[in-house]
Amino acid sequence: LHPVGIIGTGKYVPERILTNQELEQMVDTNDEWIVTRTGIKERRLAADEEATSDLALIASLKAIEAAGLTAEDIDLIIVATITPDMFFPSTACLLQDKLGAKKAAAFDLSAACSGFIYGLATGSGMIASGMYKHVLVVGAETLSRITDYTDRNTCILFGDGAGAVVLGQVEEGRGFLSFELGADGSGGDLLKVHGGGSRVPATEESIQSKQHYIYMAGNDVFKFAVRIMGSAAEDALQKAGITKDEIDLLVPHQANIRIIQSALNRLNLSEDKAMINLDKYGNMSAASIPVALAEAVEQGRVNEGDCVVLVGFGGGLTWGGSVLIW
Ligand code: ACO
Repeated sequence: LHPVGIIGTGKYVPERILTNQELEQMVDTNDEWIVTRTGIKERRLAADEEATSDLALIASLKAIEAAGLTAEDIDLIIVATITPDMFFPSTACLLQDKLGAKKAAAFDLSAACSGFIYGLATGSGMIASGMYKHVLVVGAETLSRITDYTDRNTCILFGDGAGAVVLGQVEEGRGFLSFELGADGSGGDLLKVHGGGSRVPATEESIQSKQHYIYMAGNDVFKFAVRIMGSAAEDALQKAGITKDEIDLLVPHQANIRIIQSALNRLNLSEDKAMINLDKYGNMSAASIPVALAEAVEQGRVNEGDCVVLVGFGGGLTWGGSVLIW
C-alpha cells in the first residue's frame, strides 16, 4: 500500500455574517444563552445566487493550487454534503464541470457531519490501492436553505461554507495512519430532514408542516456526541498505535464548544491543542472539519511531522475519526 496524505487544503465561507444579535430579532433567544450553551457568536449565510457547488468551487480551487496541481490532475472528486444543489446530477458532477476537471470521476457522499471523514477514508483507500493518484475531497454545505429561522432550537446552530483537500501519495512515515468509521441507523430519527425524498415527496402539506427543514432532538444528539467524539478518537488512535500525549492538534467537528471540551477532557488535551472556530462559523456539517483544517494550515498551526487527529459525528447517526502525520 502507498502512504497517502493531504497535499493541499482550501476553504471558502460566504461574506454575509449572521450574528447572535440579529437572531435575537428573529426568535426568542439571546446572545448570552447562545454563547454559553454553544460557543457560537456568528455564522455565515450564502448569498441568494450561491449554492453548495459554488462554495465548493472556491475551496477546491484553493486546495488544488496549494497542492501545486491543476484541475486536470484530479482523478476523482468526492463531495460530502447534505445540501446538494439538487437531487441529481450530483454536486460532485456540477463541481467537476465548473473546475474543468475533465479526467475526474465524481460522486456525492451522504454521511451528514461525518461525511468529510468518510470521504477521506474512501479517497485515500483508492489512492493506497493504486487506483488513483489524486483525489479531491470536499465538505460543502448551504445549511441555511434547510434551516427553519423560526425554530430557536436549530437556527442558532447552523452556517454555510466549504472546505476541500487534495489527497495524494506522500513519503513513508507521513499521511493517514488510521480511520475509524461508524454508524447507528437506529438513531436516524434524532437528526433529519424528513421530507423531499421518496418517503415524503414535496407537497403543499409537507411544506406547510415544515418537513423540508432540519429536525433535531438536541439533547439526545448532545449525549450521543459527547460519548462518541471521545471514543471515535480513542479507537482511531489505538488503530494507529499513537498515544494521547503524542497528539499535536485535534480538529473536531464544530457543533458545540461543550461537546469539544468533553472530548478534550477524555483525551487529556488542553484547549490550545484543539482547532476551534465555531464561534465564527457555527456548525457547517460536512464543511466544519475541512474548514477548520484549512484555517489551522493558514495559521501555521500544523507543521510537517505533526500528529493530527480529526474526529466528527452527525446525522445517521454516523461518526468518524482519523489519525495522520502531517
Ligand atoms: N435561546 C434561548 N433558549 C433556548 C434556545 C435558544 N436558542 N434553544 C432552546 N432554549 C431553551 C429550551 O427551550 C429549554 O428551555 P426549558 O428548560 O424552559 O424547556 C432550555 O433552553 C434548555 O434547553 P436544552 O435543549 O436542554 O439546552 P441544551 O443545553 O441541551 O442546548 C443545544 C441545546 C445547544 C441544541 C444542545 O443540545 C446541542 O448542542 N445539541 C447537539 C446539537 C448538535 O450537535 N447537532 C449536530 C448536528 S450535526 C448534523 O448532522 C447537521
